[in-house]
Amino acid sequence: LNSPWNKRGDMTLPEGVKNGEKSILEVGAQEQGERNVKTFDLTAQEKEWEISEGKTVNAWTYNGTVPGEPLRVKEGDFVKVNLKNELNVPVTIHWHGVLLPNKMDGIPGLTQDAVQPGESFTYEFIANDAGTYWYHSHQHSSEQVDKGLYGSLVIEEKEKEYEKDEFFILDEWAVDQDKRDMSNMGGMMQGAMSGDGEADTKQMYDTFTVNGKAGSAIEPLKMEAGETARLRFVNAGYQAHKLVFPEGSMRVIANDAEKVVSEKNTSNVLEIAPGERIDVEFTKQTKETAFIGQEQSIENAEDMMIPVVSENNDQAADQEVVLASGKETAKGISYGSEKPLFEDTPDPDVNYDMDLSMGMNMGEGMSFQINDKTFPETPPIQVKEGDIVKVTLRNTGRMNHPMHLHGHRFQVNSKNGEEFENPIVKDLIHVKPGEEYVIYFKADNAGEWLFHCHDNNHADMGMVTIVDYE
Ligand code: C2O
Ligand code: CU
Repeated sequence: LNSPWNKRGDMTLPEGVKNGEKSILEVGAQEQGERNVKTFDLTAQEKEWEISEGKTVNAWTYNGTVPGEPLRVKEGDFVKVNLKNELNVPVTIHWHGVLLPNKMDGIPGLTQDAVQPGESFTYEFIANDAGTYWYHSHQHSSEQVDKGLYGSLVIEEKEKEYEKDEFFILDEWAVDQDKRDMSNMGGMMQGAMSGDGEADTKQMYDTFTVNGKAGSAIEPLKMEAGETARLRFVNAGYQAHKLVFPEGSMRVIANDAEKVVSEKNTSNVLEIAPGERIDVEFTKQTKETAFIGQEQSIENAEDMMIPVVSENNDQAADQEVVLASGKETAKGISYGSEKPLFEDTPDPDVNYDMDLSMGMNMGEGMSFQINDKTFPETPPIQVKEGDIVKVTLRNTGRMNHPMHLHGHRFQVNSKNGEEFENPIVKDLIHVKPGEEYVIYFKADNAGEWLFHCHDNNHADMGMVTIVDYE
């Protein structure tokens, strides 16, 4: 059967494997079978990182670069990653979006102990499901991801569809120390007061990056006129970004590792929420340098600009940047997933109403809440294996909440009471102020899984709950 459930393959660990202490390979060679084993070593280490000429930050990295070492494997590979921690704080690696056994999810205090300075941990999983992923520390994410502990992971299809295939991770930095020292709280209060969902924590960030570089330090993408490529985008930052493409040059082909069907070129603006990943098919239309860049309406937009250059173009690199103007679709999400999880609206076994808001905690100041509680007091989503779970996410606050579910994908059936004609399957949904989404998922991967806001500040201040299997 062509069911999306099946593509996940076997996700349970063989008996005797606990917390990755013992290798799956040691326990049962049969697990490995005919599979290719891809082994990577990632060392968490401190590094002076140059964002652009004269702009340097003290970063925390996997293998000395921001983003960390790019990982590429093939569908069906057995992936083994040795994490070594050379920082003086504990870290982990979370495999964002990968459907894997709970023990490999990298959540300190839930699925493993954080990896202490000087210690190591080996992650192992089968790369069942081709698509775009990323990895990042899940220990104090608001600090560690912010300082650079993230990287890309691609699970390639057995038959590659696009010869040219590139990865771009978007992020924001506070390079200016004075701004950085301005308390995070202050920035957020300001955002909250202004009532602008976009304002939020953002005031302290003064530099935008693409693959760890800003402005003219961004490596140009090389493509000839008429060439088509797959471009994979991930937002590792706190702020939603809107990338503008030359008109008629792109179409969305996947969202959170799920392939989508979309009309060609209905829009040339790509909005990516924090934590989200979107793949597009992009065609270079002419030999003149083209630009893909942050929509110009916000501060520092010019940092986030990818030049697309052709080898046999006589124009020099320092030509004036001309960004196409943005044309957005009226409805926002304009595509559905190729393989929905449910044909018809299912009958749920579990109904969970998730109210997202901001609040004040006595003595602690601001907090971010699910159903008026902060984690770990938030009510868990209690499920049994096989349950169909319905979650209604409602944002009653004034800030954006990109909500991300670990270990599963969900189908987004409606927005503000309006059913989608073609539902989309995702693992992160950007819930903006006043919005309500209804999602469904199947409890098919036992364990304890986080469901949290991917604005990591909000998560660290309480906007987290757990999908808990009976
Ligand atoms: Cu990017 Cu809890 O995840
Ligand atoms: Cu949030």
